[in-house]
Amino acid sequence: MNKTVVLTVVNQKGGTGKTVTCENLGIGLANEGKRVLLIDNDPQGSLTISLGYPRPDEITVTLSDILAKVIQEQEIAEDEGIIKHEEGIDLIPANIELSGLEVSLVNVMNREKILKQYVDSVKDKYDFILIDCGPSLGMLTINALAAADRLIIPVQAQYLPAKGLELLLQTVNKVRKYINPSLKIEGVLLTMVDSRTNYAKDISNLIRTVYGGKLHVYKTDIPQSVRASEISAEGKSIYEHDPRGKVADAYRPAVELSFLSPEQQNDVIEAMDYAQCTPSLSQAQRIKKLSQSDEYSLEKVEEIMNEEKKSELDHVTIKNEVLKKYFPKSYTPKQVEDTIVKLLEQWQKQKQKKREMSL
Ligand SMILES: Nc1ncnc2c1ncn2[C@@H]1O[C@H](COP(=O)(O)OP(=O)(O)OP(=O)(O)O)[C@@H](O)[C@H]1O
Ligand SMILES: [Mg+2]
Repeated sequence: MNKTVVLTVVNQKGGTGKTVTCENLGIGLANEGKRVLLIDNDPQGSLTISLGYPRPDEITVTLSDILAKVIQEQEIAEDEGIIKHEEGIDLIPANIELSGLEVSLVNVMNREKILKQYVDSVKDKYDFILIDCGPSLGMLTINALAAADRLIIPVQAQYLPAKGLELLLQTVNKVRKYINPSLKIEGVLLTMVDSRTNYAKDISNLIRTVYGGKLHVYKTDIPQSVRASEISAEGKSIYEHDPRGKVADAYRPAVELSFLSPEQQNDVIEAMDYAQCTPSLSQAQRIKKLSQSDEYSLEKVEEIMNEEKKSELDHVTIKNEVLKKYFPKSYTPKQVEDTIVKLLEQWQKQKQKKREMSL
């Protein structure tokens, strides 16, 4: 009996750790002696790049060629397009051509099941097939949902994921209904967890409260490995440490910030704490530029750090340690929120009354 498990790693939000999860889980399983195929199903080719192929556009056979062959019902040779990676996994790489293929899928019969046809044809050679998705819910992702037995949903621990998850779940339900009834959500994986904060716990409570039994949050989460305190004073060493570029990528904002003086770096750490997020590459580049001008100040750094937060997060955060003395331990974040809102309403009414009395 064939017990191959096809796992798709999906979340239409960008940068939640899908690729890193695919790579590390894949290599981890291979280290355990499993036969593993990783499929890069993202035109950005990030999985291909992070496995050591920095120029995916120069690779001659990629996933788009394989899928084109499936569409044209051409024969695919044994191991065609598969790169045998030194760390014991097989990889089907991707590059930007996959974008073109996605567009052309529109006119294809059975277009949601093209990837599945390929996956089914190679299934018996592997114990696990892992599919890395790009940040979209387009036809490539639908294909990856159609081909999967189970889904892993990485969620970045710093951001409230509620809305995005809702949309993803709706898509999963549609795929279940029309294409792949046995599709299961294996779980939500919290990534980039900063052990110094409680966000991970808050977010996993929030997911449990909002989605109840529908979503399982893994107990194990992935720690944040880029720490503010590790912002190095030498920009170059990071790349030397990781020739394959994965960590180097993660550290790119940090490298930009390494040009700042130690005092300015402390300002950035303070602004990060206040904004509760790490700087994007563009923010880091602007902070670096600011640091080299006469206009530099902590307020300006905070301004830059807060702008992404304004668009990404539409909420106020109050630390648990501030709130805990006011609420029983057993209260869920939702109960805490409801109580606070109720008290605020009472407060507003009191104010209103006072105003009316003074008139
Ligand atoms: N645990 C971690 N600690 C620190 N940095 C991380 C961690 N996991 C991922 N990163 C970094 O965060 C960034 C986003 O990760 P990754 O590329 O895996 O996300 P993704 O969901 O695949 O993104 P995309 O949606 O663009 O495909 C990368 O620069 C990666 O190196
Ligand atoms: Mg990715």
